[in-house]
Amino acid sequence: MTSNTLADFELKEIVVDGYERVVEVQEESSGLHVIIAIHDTTMGPALGGLRICPYESCQEALEDVLRLAEGMTYKSALVEAGFGGGKSVMLADPARHKSRGLLRRYAEIVNGLEGVYLCGKDMGVSCDDLSYIREHTPHVAGAVGAQGSGDPSPFTAWGVFQGIQAAARWLWGSPSLEGRKVAIQGLGGVGMRLADFLFWAGAELIVADIDESRVEQARQLYHAQVVRGGEIFGAEADIFAPCARGGILDAETVERLRCQAVVGGANNQLADPSIGVRLHERSILYAPDFVANAGGLLNGAAEFEPEGYNPSIARAKVDQVGEALYSIYERASREGRATSDVAMDLAHQKLKAREGARRYPVYYH
Ligand code: NAI
Repeated sequence: MTSNTLADFELKEIVVDGYERVVEVQEESSGLHVIIAIHDTTMGPALGGLRICPYESCQEALEDVLRLAEGMTYKSALVEAGFGGGKSVMLADPARHKSRGLLRRYAEIVNGLEGVYLCGKDMGVSCDDLSYIREHTPHVAGAVGAQGSGDPSPFTAWGVFQGIQAAARWLWGSPSLEGRKVAIQGLGGVGMRLADFLFWAGAELIVADIDESRVEQARQLYHAQVVRGGEIFGAEADIFAPCARGGILDAETVERLRCQAVVGGANNQLADPSIGVRLHERSILYAPDFVANAGGLLNGAAEFEPEGYNPSIARAKVDQVGEALYSIYERASREGRATSDVAMDLAHQKLKAREGARRYPVYYH
């Protein structure tokens, strides 16, 4: 394990209003360029993934890490994960530039933050990468092996599935998905697993992915109907489940939807908050993404419990995602407001009251 401090790095502090700490490290010698944003630690140490992405500019990377770190604060607060919000980005092409050397230097910075920030998996990072980072710092969730909880995707997908059942219960009076049509955009770690859960629950699937092999797999395994590209937005389905990139619901795509509910795993599905209001106006039930996809976070957080990681305990926590969403649907209906606005209010209320804040230390095993 590494025993370095932040003094070993040429570190730049970036002052950002509303954020507790934002640090940037750019090293000529190793080629490392990283920004770590700690948004809020009211509820506990900041927990959030590392994203490795070939950003066009430093500004773009900064905006991404700030938005993602803030989102983690609300996600963690709402499901009472006992963590705060943070995120990190590495400016690099994961396919061409990711190396053990860079991951090690990154791990050393995380280590130097002494547990105020814990990193996990995001785009461009594999579970094996996390396991390597874990060799150099304990402040990691989602490594594989005895200490880690591994790939969070099945837990995220299970939470989304719970959210879909809750939407069915709200809309049609029963959680049964027998014969319901669900359109899934993106068949990766989350989307493909969700397709599996839905198939076995009796749902009919419509799928889209830019990766031909994945749609072919879904067609063969689940008898899914395949649509191309943007056609998924206008698919005649009961539920639309975005499980690919963020920002996909904008002023144009929101008008094309023909579903009764949107429940998916993708982060930051709404291009801006007005889209949540538009969904409400169109009477399309929206499961706020940061609640629907909280399963992976709850699973990673379970590693730091006193008794160590136990997948059954993690599953029991993820099982509560459906109820959390159902109560948001109820409150939004009572108040005649968009579910996205209600979820944000709830997160702010919990943060203000420190409801669900960590009451015991983070345990490293
Ligand atoms: P992934 O990288 O395994 O899968 C994404 C899939 O989307 C790939 O199959 C890709 O080909 C497809 N895709 C990309 N652009 C597309 C497009 N325009 N149209 C259709 N398909 C497209 O990612 P993963 O892990 O499944 O995550 C999916 C989403 O869920 C992401 O937004 C991620 O940030 C979010 N998320 C994932 C969590 C997890 O546990 N993996 C936890 C919380 C959020």
